[in-house]
Amino acid sequence: CGIVGYIGTQQAAPLLVEGLTRLEHRGYDSAGVAVLGPSGIKVVKRAGRVRDLSEGLPKRFTGKIGIGHTRWATHGPANDVNAHPHTDAGDRVAVVHNGIIDNAAALRAELTADGVELSSDTDTEVLAHLIARSEADTLESRVAEALSRIEGTYGIAVTHADFPDRIVVARNGSPLIVGVGDHEMHVASDLAALVRYTTTVAHLDDGEMATVTAGGFTTYRLDPGGLAATHRRAREVDIDPGDYEAGEHESFMHKELLEQPAAAERMLRGRLDERFGTGHLGGLNLDARELRAIRRVKILGCGSAYYVGQMGASLIEELARIPADAEAASEFRYRNPIVEPDTLYVAVSQSGETIDTLLAVQEVRRKGGRVIGLVNVVGSAIAREVDGGIYLHAGPEVAVASTKALTNMFLGFALLAVQLGRVRDLSIADGRRLIAGLTAIPGQIEEVLATEPDLADIAKRLAEAESLFFVGRVRGFPVAREGAQKFKEISYRHAEAYQTSELKHGPLALISTDVPTVAVVPDDELVERNVAALHEITARGGPLTVVTHRGVDLGDLAGRAHRVDVPKNERELDPILLTIPLQLLAYQAALNLGHDIDKPRNLAKSVTVE
Ligand code: G6P
Repeated sequence: CGIVGYIGTQQAAPLLVEGLTRLEHRGYDSAGVAVLGPSGIKVVKRAGRVRDLSEGLPKRFTGKIGIGHTRWATHGPANDVNAHPHTDAGDRVAVVHNGIIDNAAALRAELTADGVELSSDTDTEVLAHLIARSEADTLESRVAEALSRIEGTYGIAVTHADFPDRIVVARNGSPLIVGVGDHEMHVASDLAALVRYTTTVAHLDDGEMATVTAGGFTTYRLDPGGLAATHRRAREVDIDPGDYEAGEHESFMHKELLEQPAAAERMLRGRLDERFGTGHLGGLNLDARELRAIRRVKILGCGSAYYVGQMGASLIEELARIPADAEAASEFRYRNPIVEPDTLYVAVSQSGETIDTLLAVQEVRRKGGRVIGLVNVVGSAIAREVDGGIYLHAGPEVAVASTKALTNMFLGFALLAVQLGRVRDLSIADGRRLIAGLTAIPGQIEEVLATEPDLADIAKRLAEAESLFFVGRVRGFPVAREGAQKFKEISYRHAEAYQTSELKHGPLALISTDVPTVAVVPDDELVERNVAALHEITARGGPLTVVTHRGVDLGDLAGRAHRVDVPKNERELDPILLTIPLQLLAYQAALNLGHDIDKPRNLAKSVTVE
């Protein structure tokens, strides 16, 4: 979900709507704004996109203070009533909220027993009523009092008709940023909403609140004994507002896909030690002795970050010969994992905000484990929580389907694996070979991107199928998983990933002329075995596309399958180049189907609720 707020000299509504447009990738089920003008608070909110909201705004919707929200539904369906902002019965208070209030049911029951009529199904609405019922002197104390009743996570912004000179915001587990303008101030849950207006910002910490007036802001902590000033100052952030514009591209996904060579170069810059054939990762905060003491590596992430984590685990096992595996962060925490001091935990996340990953990090730390982060967003919750890490330098990623961040995650794992290997058994020659391989990657990605027109034809055919398989073995399997993930995310086709070797143990029953397969066949010792298994598909009339390396001999499969080639690099680094055509296939398929590529249905870019 996304939050915006404005207080200053201009009419708030158009600015809020503009901010919400920039946050839509965070949630797009419904949107709303509340504006505080001379005649009190007025709210307009509805299910659907921000553009539906802006079309529905009344002409006289005036006020120079306001808050807005774009929602990814959790409690209750996406309808007009459940959209934020939420208000009390008298419309004195308006609240927008990201996160989840765990004890909402109990609070709702308590309010209802007290005669309060709740109008929505949401957890957020209780906050509006609690603030409205407080009799404390200041808005800050009223908000603090309400928050003290809340269990759960939140980023909130509040306006109150009796305090018409301020917005009060608070953060606990869900980001909030204050942006400083000229006689005006902005509030947002994401820099994307602010950068057009200001790059002077302050990120609140968990447990922190702020009072925002047209002239400035003050911050304080929500301590049990009351509110204690924290004196947070705003800082300049080095951000190019153009990164948040799709420009001439028809979608952010396409723009970000094409940015991959440049993003990969940024990722590698300064981190390749050609002389000693190793990675140079300063932010790990681990010296050679500590690196050598690592006995196991556990990678935690969600969605695409989890699949790239699997690629990373094989890289680490292969190059450093340390047992490594990846697990969905969302599952890890709940199975009472064994946390060992000589295991290195790696949290992977583009946003640095995914609550499942963040909570997994906290669980590891609680049990004394050491966690590093592979994170794109500088200063994000996960980046702040970990003991060290590797920033991805991919630049802002807006499309829900991750491309450039994912590529950089892979490169981060490659650097980490080489560095871990080089303090163990990996020879200097192998180290240099891999560093040279990494240097070649940005140019090779460029080559793969140039094949987009050929892939468009294949994608068109794949898009016609209701159901598809993506298969691969060993290094190729996480690639197939990520390929299937992308495909289903944006084309809404059922795409299932499987190990090529396991096809015959079950899913072969589903193969028919209507069920195409995309097979990932890296140039490794398994080519012949892969080819043999893929024959079992073509023999049953299953349409087949093989994504492989230039020069790989597919034998007599050649005439029976579409072939997509990527350039050859070092074998260990194979997965990343094989991933790029799968991104393009998913993208082109979704384009053919006429889907909203950047905002796939039911999904959101960052999931900050469990
Ligand atoms: C969401 C997105 C996925 C993404 C995952 C992890 O589910 O829809 O595309 O891979 O979150 O996001 P993160 O920001 O932690 O990498």
